[in-house]
Amino acid sequence: MAEYQRKYTDLLTEYIPGKSIEEVKKDYHLDEVIRLASNENPLGPSPKAIEAMIEAVKEVNLYPEATCEELVTELAQYYGIKPEEIVTGNGADNLINQLGQAFINEGDEVIYCTPTFAAYRSSTLLMGGKPVEIPLLDGFVYDLDGLLTQITDKTKMIFVCNPNNPTGTLLEEGRLQTFLDQVPEQVLIILDEAYIEFIQEEHYTTGVDFIKTYPNVIVLRTFSKLYGLAGNRVGYAIAQKPLIDRMKKVREVFSVNRVGHIGALAALKDQAHRDKTIEKNSAERKRLVEFFEEQGFDVTPSHTNFIFVDVKMDAVEVFQKLMEKGVLIRPCSGWGYNTHIRVSIGSHGENTKFIDRFSIVIANIKQLN
Ligand SMILES: Cc1ncc(COP(=O)(O)O)c(C=O)c1O
Repeated sequence: MAEYQRKYTDLLTEYIPGKSIEEVKKDYHLDEVIRLASNENPLGPSPKAIEAMIEAVKEVNLYPEATCEELVTELAQYYGIKPEEIVTGNGADNLINQLGQAFINEGDEVIYCTPTFAAYRSSTLLMGGKPVEIPLLDGFVYDLDGLLTQITDKTKMIFVCNPNNPTGTLLEEGRLQTFLDQVPEQVLIILDEAYIEFIQEEHYTTGVDFIKTYPNVIVLRTFSKLYGLAGNRVGYAIAQKPLIDRMKKVREVFSVNRVGHIGALAALKDQAHRDKTIEKNSAERKRLVEFFEEQGFDVTPSHTNFIFVDVKMDAVEVFQKLMEKGVLIRPCSGWGYNTHIRVSIGSHGENTKFIDRFSIVIANIKQLN
């Protein structure tokens, strides 16, 4: 058969998401399935965003406003930066691809730690770049010194996922600043802050504070996590104008749809819903951490809406047995951690059901072994 593909697609594997809630219900004859696998907001979107989106749906015969001007203006005010320092995309995932298209040439090296978010690797490979992967430090924290040692004259980009997915770990305050000072200016530093709004440190310097000083820093943020709009697919990048202009050149014109734009705008204005999400997340996270620790499992301190736990038994078996009981979590074997699971923080009721069913599953597995 003729070969039509771009050669770099040979290096990629299709991302197969886990079974959908509907599939699991059907396969295991369940009435209810709880998904604690994708770090979604169990409260749902802001009621104000829902209202605004219902109105926006009535106009989906019209193309969206291509630049998301209203949202960008509101975000610029929120952060005290200029609108030209922001570009929106179809989720942060889409912006990671935009970064590849805008900046990675064949043979460029892209450095990051693993385990981390998988899109850094695929976006690099797709553009003919070379992923340079180093392990996280003990305690699953990003190894910034290790990243520095990997910089060569071929390095184009460094990804720092902070807090990191799947480990939930946060870099110590001040650590990033020292790192940024040591990275040569020709290397781009991408600070993926998909979960940064969940951190509870009182004084923590985030990527937005760095962009004024560092012309090579790009920050990624999303409406999928704190704002409960994962299904809407809205993310944005923040950087100095020359980098944003490059990203705009490769941006799909209508990458953010009409409903997505309006929903994100309304969600951004609803501070009360954000506060409630953070408060509930931290109370429920504490509860789950205490539960796991009482059971004798190792929990990595989390600064996010999920926790990374060493259950000291086969994570895939735990995942499978939980799925049969209507609870979806993420086994971390795909990242090379065969006894770790990642559990998203659900609502109080969901977590109660998780605790009950997980306890049964663990007892069963222990009995069998
Ligand atoms: C670290 C990290 N970055 C980016 C994303 C992508 O988010 P989005 O839903 O905006 O595409 C995720 C999603 O899980 C993530 O965990």
